[in-house]
Amino acid sequence: MDSPPHTKLRLCVLASGGGTNLQAMIDRSAEGLLDARIVLVLSDRAGAVALKRAEKADIAAFHIDYKTSAKSTIEQAASLVDLAELDCGQKIINDADRSTRLARLARLVLAEHELIRRIDSVDPDYVCLAGFMRLLSPYFIGHINAHGPKIINIHPALLPSFPGRHGYEDTFQYGCKWGGVTVHFVDEGEDTGPVIAQAVYPVWPGEDVETIRNRGLSLEYEVYPQVINWLARGFVATQTGSDGKARVEITDPHYPAIVGGWVRKVLQGSTNETETIAS
Ligand code: GRF
Repeated sequence: MDSPPHTKLRLCVLASGGGTNLQAMIDRSAEGLLDARIVLVLSDRAGAVALKRAEKADIAAFHIDYKTSAKSTIEQAASLVDLAELDCGQKIINDADRSTRLARLARLVLAEHELIRRIDSVDPDYVCLAGFMRLLSPYFIGHINAHGPKIINIHPALLPSFPGRHGYEDTFQYGCKWGGVTVHFVDEGEDTGPVIAQAVYPVWPGEDVETIRNRGLSLEYEVYPQVINWLARGFVATQTGSDGKARVEITDPHYPAIVGGWVRKVLQGSTNETETIAS
């Protein structure tokens, strides 16, 4: 069956660290297997390897400084947003003390203002989080998602299990026999947005967390580019359920074959690894 016509998406990638997911996208793009072009990479860490990977691929890349220490932080942020209102609508900063919360929100808003300025300058179709280790406030999310969901994230666990920063460690510590990875739209909660795609991998007896992480990462490099291609080809349909929550359905007729392929590949690879370890 022919695929519907599609245009190449323009992506902005946000990454804090090693940027191996970014690299997987760059490689797929270079091979002509990604229906997208990465037009901008931003990082909250000045020395992030992700920035170097972007520069090497001739992609514009910038560091966004999150360490504002100016005394005038609250006043500056208050000139951009109503901090009290933002505090009422936010779910990410939970300090009991209101002035601590407002100060943290103010710092976040100032950094996000710079993120937004950079992102708006290239007007991407999607903002892809790939190991971006910062909380995002409703100020940022509301701005980027003003005309529909535009922010996607890859999470190293099978959501809604194990939200937060340590998906592989949490999966391992819990003694799960299967782990997974999730690509989802980003909403105002932490890892709570509508799931777009998931893939699973086995955890075999005697394995350690590093083996699990490498296995999961190898899946991440398949699933994230595939989701981008589904978005580019109009195969990601969002509906609102009777509970008012958005749900995503992938309408690609090849969906079962693609997901089955991920599982087969990871089972095949991990069985070989296990046999090698055992022998
Ligand atoms: C990945 O495991 C991703 O799921 C998580 O952060 C990690 C980023 O790795 N959000 P990398 O920077 O892409 O190598």
